[in-house]
Amino acid sequence: PTPHIAVLGSANMDLVAYVAKAPQRGETVTGREFRTVPGGKGANQAVAAARAGATVSMIGAVGTDAHGTRLRSALEHSGVDTDLLRTVETATGTAHIVVDDDGGNSIVVIPGANGTLTALAPGDEGLIASADALLLQLEVPLDGVLAAAQAARRHGVRTVLTPAPAQPLPPELLAATDLLLPNEHEAAALTGIADDPRAAAGALLSQVPEVVITLGSRGSLYAARGADPVVVPARRVTAVDTTGAGDTFAGTLAVALAEGNSVADALGWASAAAALSVQRTGASASMPYRSEIDGEAQVAS
Ligand code: RIB
Ligand code: NA
Repeated sequence: PTPHIAVLGSANMDLVAYVAKAPQRGETVTGREFRTVPGGKGANQAVAAARAGATVSMIGAVGTDAHGTRLRSALEHSGVDTDLLRTVETATGTAHIVVDDDGGNSIVVIPGANGTLTALAPGDEGLIASADALLLQLEVPLDGVLAAAQAARRHGVRTVLTPAPAQPLPPELLAATDLLLPNEHEAAALTGIADDPRAAAGALLSQVPEVVITLGSRGSLYAARGADPVVVPARRVTAVDTTGAGDTFAGTLAVALAEGNSVADALGWASAAAALSVQRTGASASMPYRSEIDGEAQVAS
């Protein structure tokens, strides 16, 4: 059966400058190109999961401006249900992104409408209850994230938390998290353990039952209480824009796990999807469809 994934999180319009090398403080550089493309960690994860083949519903907020209208239709175009995406009387969130020639980025997020997501609205809990998994990130207020995680917990729905942007996590949120999905920097920020993902994962297992740490071009690591860690390498690709690669990984991993695949297969599939996404520009726009992921995963295995 097709998995049903609920996502609560941000929707941003990404304002992206492509440049050879990002400017230092006080420096002005001339870039190559400017693009306005759909992003936001919540919306990105929703698009990734929908393109990977799940039924996806997005809980979030956009503003009354043109960015909001465009984000809503971009989500719908990828097959994401937006019935619970509210429109609020403020500016839509924006992300001001500089992407350099290595495909790396730096980002300033202005939350705008995302900042209004401090609590669940009517309908949200019912939707969460009906899902196979709830995906969460930290670009909306912690109160909203916590309310959603606790609602999922009440209904026995698996919660997957991407702790980005990195920030200290309240114990109540960790207590309502099933799978914690940091990148290596976020894992280091949460544990104080840098450069040792196995040790960081081990430390996080005292707070959550399952951890996946994404290691960029070095792949990903899965750890669970009482089980041997699983490490899956990433494939070698030339990145043009890594924005949203972690969100691609999160959305597709959730789908593969909800479909009952083994952890190793799910990590390999999510890694194939992320590898495809970094070879194209734009966050949501660069996310692959299921047939492309299957093709890529085949080549690798
Ligand atoms: O995770 C990538 C996303 O982070 C971008 O799309 C941008 O909106 C920022 O929120
Ligand atoms: Na990309």
